[in-house]
Amino acid sequence: MLTKQEISAYQKARSVNSNKLCHAPFTNLYFNTEGHVAVCWLTFYNPVVYDESKSLKDIWHDVKFQSIREHIGRDDLSKYCQTCEQHLKQGNHVNLLAKAYDTAPADVDYPSIIEFELENTCNLACTMCNGLLSSTIRKDREGKPPLKSPYGKKFRENLKEFIPHLSEARFNGGEPFLIQQYWPIWEDMMVINPAVKMTMATNGSVLNSRVKDVLTRGNIHLNISMDGFSKETYESIRVGGNFERLMKNLDYFIAFCANHNRTLCIMVNPMRQNWWEMPDFVNWVNTQNIRIWFNSIIKPEDQSIWALSPEKLQEVYDTLNAATINHKPSLCSQEVYEHNVSTYTNLVHNQIHNWLIDARRQEESSSDSLPTDKNFVALIRPHLPLNHDFFKLFPRLKDEQKKALKKAIHQQNVVFSAAQMEDMHQKALQEAIDTLVASK
Ligand SMILES: C[S@@+](CC[C@H](N)C(=O)[O-])C[C@H]1O[C@@H](n2cnc3c(N)ncnc32)[C@H](O)[C@@H]1O
Ligand code: SF4
Repeated sequence: MLTKQEISAYQKARSVNSNKLCHAPFTNLYFNTEGHVAVCWLTFYNPVVYDESKSLKDIWHDVKFQSIREHIGRDDLSKYCQTCEQHLKQGNHVNLLAKAYDTAPADVDYPSIIEFELENTCNLACTMCNGLLSSTIRKDREGKPPLKSPYGKKFRENLKEFIPHLSEARFNGGEPFLIQQYWPIWEDMMVINPAVKMTMATNGSVLNSRVKDVLTRGNIHLNISMDGFSKETYESIRVGGNFERLMKNLDYFIAFCANHNRTLCIMVNPMRQNWWEMPDFVNWVNTQNIRIWFNSIIKPEDQSIWALSPEKLQEVYDTLNAATINHKPSLCSQEVYEHNVSTYTNLVHNQIHNWLIDARRQEESSSDSLPTDKNFVALIRPHLPLNHDFFKLFPRLKDEQKKALKKAIHQQNVVFSAAQMEDMHQKALQEAIDTLVASK
């Protein structure tokens, strides 16, 4: 549970006065490509399942959501909202998802925001994405049959009752401008509630006359994803994307948004493949007078920054800390400049720095709890034939190799015990030993 101090530190840092730590369960519904509905994307592990027999009203009042509301009402994030609780405990208010729902009006009978992820149609196959969000990945990388959208005509009809109550509609995907079922929904919104803010999360690759037309007619705002500042990095992450085309489209989107008073934010995922380009991004968005946002890639781990070794995390931190963020260009507003600089400062000094501290702490505690060589061999003995190569090779390893092997065999890095070893997954043990034997 959160302490009084943690709660009050957040309340002080917050831009709104509210007795609720998070407004999402009182304001938002999020529909995903599997037909699951949640109050935000961090609570999909406990979804309400959409089917055409349920009205959207039934979903909004579902007991699962009522229970989340009751817990939030008691400042209890420990049951359903652990990621936000963790951020609040770390004092990381910048990456707190709850904040994204702070300003939306609450109405007991209707959501004021809906987030749509109705199907996975997408032309790209970004390395960190997956087949539930990209039809190209599903087909080419995962070799699976197409994902059928669970939302049919009835969904659109049902939605009409909700549209007058919306202040914002967020369209994700897939690639929104390629998702055919979004277009009639946009038309409905423009007729029923033309003021509704429609925010598109787009890869920026689709710009044709139909897109230009809907941008002009709807109150559309753009979050454009761009994970590389050089052609090489961009195209290696955003597989199927073309850097020159993106930059050309960005010229259009940026000018359009500036001239029509719409917001445009560049969304970047700092990852192992691009982290050193983050300062370039910040310096560039400042010259364009547009905002930047850094997402956190938690999975896949092998592309994430947080799961790097402490040594590598230190290098990432030192490099980004030493990088130069240029003075405010004359065309950039003070507000945008301050937003971008504080977003960067938060990435480096809060997020990456916290990951570094955690990695060091974990390394220290795992080294303390690793068994001695003698105990380790004794623990392995019941799992292998007596004449297995492991018993000859292990004594000849260097200390760091022994440590790596002990860690690999017991990845959770908790204290070894004979009982734990017994329970350990035989395959993991065999794989680690096979690697050791093969390396000799
Ligand atoms: C799934 S995309 C859909 C919208 C659009 N296709 C795009 O790329 O912006 C929405 C956002 O999720 C981000 N994203 C992709 N894979 C992610 C992952 N593994 N973890 C966190 N965010 C991810 C994308 O970079 C993008 O900003
Ligand atoms: S463009 Fe968006 S939805 Fe498509 S693969 Fe990339 S991140 Fe996923």
